[in-house]
Amino acid sequence: MTYPLASSTWGKEELDAIQGVIDSDMYTMGAKVKQFEKEFAEYFESPYAVMTNSGSSANLIMMSLLNWRHAWSGKDIIVPALGWSTSYFPIVQNGMKLNFVDIDPNTFNIDPAKIEEAITPNTKAILAVNMLGNPCNFTAIKEICAKYELILLEDNCESMGAKWNNRYCGTLGLAGTFSFFFSHHIQTMEGGMILTPNEEDAHYMRSLRAHGWCRDLPLDDESLYKRTGDPFYDSFTFVTPGYCVRPLEMSGAVGSEQLKKFPKLLWTREQNKKYFEELFGNQPWARMQTEHERSSWFTFGLVLQGVLKGQREMVINHLTSAGIQSRPIGTQNMMRQPVMNRLGSMCVPNANRNYDGANDLHENGFMVGNHGNLDCKEGIFRMFTEMRKLI
Ligand SMILES: Cc1ncc(COP(=O)(O)O)c(C=O)c1O
Repeated sequence: MTYPLASSTWGKEELDAIQGVIDSDMYTMGAKVKQFEKEFAEYFESPYAVMTNSGSSANLIMMSLLNWRHAWSGKDIIVPALGWSTSYFPIVQNGMKLNFVDIDPNTFNIDPAKIEEAITPNTKAILAVNMLGNPCNFTAIKEICAKYELILLEDNCESMGAKWNNRYCGTLGLAGTFSFFFSHHIQTMEGGMILTPNEEDAHYMRSLRAHGWCRDLPLDDESLYKRTGDPFYDSFTFVTPGYCVRPLEMSGAVGSEQLKKFPKLLWTREQNKKYFEELFGNQPWARMQTEHERSSWFTFGLVLQGVLKGQREMVINHLTSAGIQSRPIGTQNMMRQPVMNRLGSMCVPNANRNYDGANDLHENGFMVGNHGNLDCKEGIFRMFTEMRKLI
């Protein structure tokens, strides 16, 4: 592979961290996860962090919180027409409806200009999905939230380190989620995190994460349940309709090591982006994702235009044969995914709305890798040369 989509950012430190867990013979969620949660919350200047076994589980716990603690069942949430499958599924799994709004075909994120027409009397929130590292237009989104009394939620699984108005994405609303899957900014094998400014929401999510019990909550917390003081009962008292989506201790231990490397990993991604922009930044045949405030450049998204518009299959085949790996951008237009045939009644009717932005990416968009520990100049140059042959 000349230019792969993702690569490992691990070194000896991560292997030592795993060995430390093996030596302790304590594999299930414990002190290492707690330590990583603390470090993560501090790094992103958020009061509370709850780690899960994936970013998808983080979304599931966030939406379950809204269903069970905030009683949103039957309400609808504004979502972008392009995101990730598990940005959407936890919403319907928790009895809430998807209210699709088109994306801006340049930033790839929800188009704020199209949000207001979608709001219904049942709309409770806007789920901002920061795509490929790029912050949504939170200035406009926050104004709409304030005007219609909507709650802001963030799926920040692709955008660790991105900033809006000098604040980290994932900390801007009631809760924000992160993913630490292999291709992401930090890698803990599988893993995810939820940040929230609200202590009682954090406690509720800790209970949802682990069987619905109250064992992992501070002893003096009575927000969910007043314990008896007898561990025989208190350890097996179930107070929320929970799951088991706990992370492994090894993921917590690796997370702490990866977080130390994160500033350097982000810096490298930004250097790669500068070179990518030099070559692809101003071409009539493809456009790069437009950065909004400060992106953390998860991958490089391109949309074919001009002479290459409508030619994606040919372009992808050519790049693949040159050893350049590519992927569709997220779900593309989620409403065009076969699963939607099963979700009809869980969507707010939207036949009169326009989804041109999501459709453009569905037909003409793709992404290639960015890397936290690799200078990708050679791969980027090769890709540029190969694409030029097609003009
Ligand atoms: C926007 C978004 N949300 C959620 C997820 C799910 O994360 P995970 O793969 O850790 O379950 C992803 C995964 O890439 C994603 O891109």
